[in-house]
Amino acid sequence: MANEDLSVIEIAAGLNTRLIGRNILYYPRLTSTMEAARREVKKNAPEGSVVIAGEQTRGRGRLKRAWFSPAGNIALSIVLYPDKSGLPYLIMIASLAAAHSIESVTGLDTRIKWPNDILLGGKKVAGILIENEIKGDKVEYAVIGIGINVALRPADNSEISAIATGLEDVLGEKVSREKIIKNLFLEFERLYFQLPDGESIFKLWRDRLVTLGRKVTVRWGEETLHGVAESVDESGALLIRLADGTFTKVVAGDVTLREK
Ligand code: BTN
Repeated sequence: MANEDLSVIEIAAGLNTRLIGRNILYYPRLTSTMEAARREVKKNAPEGSVVIAGEQTRGRGRLKRAWFSPAGNIALSIVLYPDKSGLPYLIMIASLAAAHSIESVTGLDTRIKWPNDILLGGKKVAGILIENEIKGDKVEYAVIGIGINVALRPADNSEISAIATGLEDVLGEKVSREKIIKNLFLEFERLYFQLPDGESIFKLWRDRLVTLGRKVTVRWGEETLHGVAESVDESGALLIRLADGTFTKVVAGDVTLREK
């Protein structure tokens, strides 16, 4: 499937958002949309500005990992200036919007793995990276990076073939990145405008988590723990029940789902 340039005109046509995607900056090739978005912040970019890359040469993932971002995938970063109270919900909004956009354009059924991996058939189809700067009580900015594997062919990439999947590979047909992005902007904005009331966002996100009730291994830094993922709280933290019956709260890390 050929990877033509993305059409910003098609994304913008009839897009009736008030914030997200009103200002789109498209680059065929970038190191990472996260840096480019931060440069836009320094230039006082309006809230909702989006940087999109045709491909990234140094895409970044969570936990300082690299994010493989070849041509034909979706790689974008959204600039926001939220209140501090809205910060915990951004992960939830981004993962719900990414899952929703994939489902409504392709009809495929996705799940969210805590905190924000979008899974298709148990493999990762999209990831979210949030970077922000806070001074005192004020959020200077938040940049929401969203990567969706559209044209990625896992079989060509031995490093990720066991854990990643791509929409076109699964469907065996071309998928419109423009439609997915448009849908993503609409759903993102719809949820973002619900803030400061995040309760319904939290509930939607919690109910889509494939993690809850499962035996998990959680890794962060040098630490590893095994237990059962009992619940999440509204800050987004995951509550793990350990073998001795005690509970521990995890705010960041990498979760592996173990057998059911
Ligand atoms: C993860 O699951 O580890 C997060 C992946 C986030 C990837 C996106 S692609 C657009 C944006 N630019 C980056 O360099 N990373 C994010």
